[in-house]
Amino acid sequence: MTIKPLRKLGATPLAPVAEAWLERIEGALRDASLDRPRFCRELLCELAFPDYVANWATAVNDDQLAQGTRISLAALDSRNITLEPEYYAECDDAKFQRVKPLLWLWYSFDRLPIGGQNVDLGVRLRRILAPHIFKTCGARFKAFQHVEFSFGYNIECGDDVVVHRHVLLDDRGGIQMGNKVSISDYANIYSHTHSIVEQADVTNAATILEEGVRITYHATVLAGVRVGVQGMVGAVAVATKDVRPYHVNVGIPAKSVRVKPNAPAEAWAASRTSNTKGSE
Ligand SMILES: CC(C)(COP(=O)(O)OP(=O)(O)OC[C@H]1O[C@@H](n2cnc3c(N)ncnc32)[C@H](O)[C@@H]1OP(=O)(O)O)[C@@H](O)C(=O)NCCC(=O)NCCS
Repeated sequence: MTIKPLRKLGATPLAPVAEAWLERIEGALRDASLDRPRFCRELLCELAFPDYVANWATAVNDDQLAQGTRISLAALDSRNITLEPEYYAECDDAKFQRVKPLLWLWYSFDRLPIGGQNVDLGVRLRRILAPHIFKTCGARFKAFQHVEFSFGYNIECGDDVVVHRHVLLDDRGGIQMGNKVSISDYANIYSHTHSIVEQADVTNAATILEEGVRITYHATVLAGVRVGVQGMVGAVAVATKDVRPYHVNVGIPAKSVRVKPNAPAEAWAASRTSNTKGSE
């Protein structure tokens, strides 16, 4: 085994400006009466269309401007776009409209030159936004680029959770992540499913990743699955049933191939837990 801790890098040249920008966002979001759509639109306008910061509304309504420019400018404001979860029957509009501007800022930042692969700024911005989107968010939350959510407001997240690039957190039925959960690149965590007969027949079921769980690259966890403490789902696996604590499940459907060597005695018990989905 070779332990390779992350390296520490020096500050980038415009770090004080970035610091002030983040402080401005953090401070503004503390105000419960903040006009979030407007605030997020102004932030995005500075980043994407700086020439229009002072006259955004005039430009949006200026029929001398190119149509594409006008609708691109309008789209900076989350009230002028729709996100997929808004079409879901059970979407709680009161909750979703509160978080929608922040989700839109998060997604849009990731698609600009300033965002995407810009690790330090991106991680810090998302750490500021997450507690205002999730139901609960613990300390030191870390998300890399291109993470997507369904509602966002149905996520419960412990301390030191890490979500890597291009992860889908479908929290339609709720996702709970305990302390130190890690979700690797391109993984998908679902919490809703459709009837095989009638697609519009949707079942929501909370998906639970207990403390220390690792969902590795390109793996998928289906709705209602519980991955027990320190459980692991291997690369490209599909967890259709519960994963027992300290077990490493791989394949499609994911099955236990080993118990972690640091597991307590009870984790080695051969019997599988009995619950609605069973475990593998
Ligand atoms: C889950 C994982 C860590 C298991 O590693 P391991 O405990 O060393 O397991 P082994 O490599 O000894 O594999 C045990 C068996 O499962 C199989 N297996 C391992 N990973 C598999 C996978 N992702 N899919 C299908 N089968 C897999 C192996 O071929 C082996 O089968 P065999 O006994 O028939 O030869 C590893 O397979 C994996 O998916 N790693 C992803 C990369 C990673 O570490 N990500 C973490 C990022 S946070």
